[in-house]
Amino acid sequence: MSANVTNTTDPHLSAGSLYKPADVTLLTLELMAQIDFILESYAMDPTRLVGMLLEIQDVTPKQYLPKEIAVYVGDKLDLPLSRVYDVISFYEALSDVPRADIVIQFCDSVVCKVTGSHKLKVALEGILGIKAGESTKDGKYHLESAPCFGACDISPAIRINGVVYGPLKTEEAVRDVLARFEKGGSLHG
Ligand code: FES
Repeated sequence: MSANVTNTTDPHLSAGSLYKPADVTLLTLELMAQIDFILESYAMDPTRLVGMLLEIQDVTPKQYLPKEIAVYVGDKLDLPLSRVYDVISFYEALSDVPRADIVIQFCDSVVCKVTGSHKLKVALEGILGIKAGESTKDGKYHLESAPCFGACDISPAIRINGVVYGPLKTEEAVRDVLARFEKGGSLHG
């Protein structure tokens, strides 16, 4: 990747990075540190880009991958920006447009389907007043389906901002989880 700014002061940025602190908007130093931690947890292995981007998206405000983050990740992994965008555009779970403060995913894979994910989806749509794939007008909630996220033993399950909760078999149980989330309580039940 060609570089037009040379960074010499920020330990998060490589020499030749496209960024300098004055350029930073959403990509705060705190977020850079979180991204660095995630990349290092994947041993900076570019073949594991999907997992990295999913985790980075989870810690980014409004849970998406804006261009500045795509550039930062590409820069860190020495990948062309086009490669990062190829992955973002290929995977439905990755978004380059803002989603919401709270992203709620219901699993639509086989086990959860059998145990009642459709009822769960209907309950969530009713509570939030949006359809799957939509965000509330205030930008607070986004609802979407997701493939199996490894919680089959507690299906039907949902994932809220990356935290899994289940089984949720009634609307009351869903409301209880959301209320606990609003209060900042643990979602692990
Ligand atoms: S099938 Fe739903 S979490 Fe695995």
